[in-house]
Amino acid sequence: MIKERNLITINKTDQSKISSVDFNNIPFGRVFSDHMVSIKYTEGQWQSAQILPYQEVKISPACSALHYGQSIFEGMKANLDEQTGDVLLFRPQKNAQRLNASAIRLGMPALPVDLFLDSLYQLVKLDRQWVPTVKDAALYIRPLMFATDPYIGVRASENYRYINFTCPVGAYYSKPVKVLVGDKFVRAIPGGTGDVKAAGNYAGTMHPAILAKKTGYDQVLWTDGYEFKYAQEIGTMNVFFIVDGKALTPELDGAILPGVTRESVIQLLKDKGVSVEERKVSIEELIDAQEKGLLQDAFGTGTAATVTHISDIGYKGKNYQLPPIEARTISNEIKVQLDGIKRGLLPDTYNWIVRL
Ligand code: COI
Repeated sequence: MIKERNLITINKTDQSKISSVDFNNIPFGRVFSDHMVSIKYTEGQWQSAQILPYQEVKISPACSALHYGQSIFEGMKANLDEQTGDVLLFRPQKNAQRLNASAIRLGMPALPVDLFLDSLYQLVKLDRQWVPTVKDAALYIRPLMFATDPYIGVRASENYRYINFTCPVGAYYSKPVKVLVGDKFVRAIPGGTGDVKAAGNYAGTMHPAILAKKTGYDQVLWTDGYEFKYAQEIGTMNVFFIVDGKALTPELDGAILPGVTRESVIQLLKDKGVSVEERKVSIEELIDAQEKGLLQDAFGTGTAATVTHISDIGYKGKNYQLPPIEARTISNEIKVQLDGIKRGLLPDTYNWIVRL
């Protein structure tokens, strides 16, 4: 059993919105559960945590996060074990650690891991009716931290707010995605912030994504920022390729987000006997494999996206169509296995699940 150690004040809503939600038809990220966690950082320390009715946040127009981008976030999911009624969280300690890696990189205060976890557990337990049970749906959990100083001088803020809210979600991608290899704009380079979850990382990807959409692609497959030669990630997901039975995924070079799903998929692949190479993966190598009929699969991994197939890769004005989804044995099996562990349908042999 999980023990909560931090004293958390709970102020419950008296107007639950749950009856207005159609759980069979949930869009991603637009429906929010009844409560949220709020913790303020003032005078050099984290204050006590509160669980409040989900509500708007009041900030000054001079709020430093708005101007200089000290803002970070995480993404997690909870599922219901329908046999036991337990709510299952997937590796939340990893998210606590990564939030703090992001905080440190952006000059923000780390949040004690037990405070992150205890407030998360209480929040999810309180809103457990919001965990959807329909296929491909889950309770998405969005912790975030941002600077709150009303000050427009450029320096690390002295005050911060941590919030964690949840939303029942359906699939992030409802079909396989078409990706366009990025060869002009840079998402991240080693030494930047691409390996942490800084809000600003995503801002720089919006314009290239709009351009990619105009040419019929769903997402940009980012490449290294120097030569535009090596695959990096998709922005919403890490990326894997299956070439001649081997799994290739870009190595964590300091510009790529160390995804929790990425790490878990690598483990599952290895334990299935698939050889996994974490290394530089050049686009030319992939195109060459495709032309020889050896590029058997490509897929993205992420909390929101889970395992999402890539149907097409656009590169230098040409479109390369990948094998049909039914033929993608490895990724199809990994998706079922991961989903089964997350929903308590398969044994948690890796100890990844926290039951509430
Ligand atoms: C996640 O997968 O949880 C993410 O944070 C990616 C995204 C929706 C930005």
